[in-house]
Amino acid sequence: MADLDDLLENNRRWAEQMRAQDPQFFERLASIQMPHMLWIGCSDSRVPANQITGQQPGEVFVHRNVANVVVHTDLNCLSVIQFAVDVLRVQHVIVCGHYGCGGVKVALEGQRLGLIDNWLRHVEDVRDTHAATLGGLKDDEARWDRLCELNVIEQVLHVSQTTVMRDAWARGQEVAVHGWIYALRDGRLRDLHVSAASAGEAARVYQAAVGLEARV
Ligand code: CO
Repeated sequence: MADLDDLLENNRRWAEQMRAQDPQFFERLASIQMPHMLWIGCSDSRVPANQITGQQPGEVFVHRNVANVVVHTDLNCLSVIQFAVDVLRVQHVIVCGHYGCGGVKVALEGQRLGLIDNWLRHVEDVRDTHAATLGGLKDDEARWDRLCELNVIEQVLHVSQTTVMRDAWARGQEVAVHGWIYALRDGRLRDLHVSAASAGEAARVYQAAVGLEARV
């Protein structure tokens, strides 16, 4: 188990380094935050939003949960989106999944782990929606990869369907949703090409990405 004193010492050194580079850094951030993007990602310890995108404190507003799921009735996630869009006025909402996601694997295989099964039921819904696509892939590895991607694509659609995004677009606010996926094996992010800056565009890019006509 990591020695917690080491973490506090690391923090002290980090704060000193930041102050050495930019003496006003913390004073500026203490007064206001103006992040330009909201990141909705997986809780996985290997996918830290700021680090993999080279962002400093103050640059990205973050919400993470197991398997980066956006549920229409999740007050926590909806509140984050509303605050980010309405108050902070972020220009980009990025849903970022990752290959090798354990939550997605549990959903793919229908494993039972406990309470979390109920949360991952949402990913099982994605699996069931795209059962034909997944069934046509060559092996379980390919199905896992594709379900990681499909889960991001579905969650981007869910973001675009929130009242927050619909209202923002209706009043002409410039804010776009995007779907990215991160590869643990090489540390690279990939764009899943489902970016949208309106409800209509969100529906079109979803259809193009999954080849389904019926969902939206
Ligand atoms: Co994950």
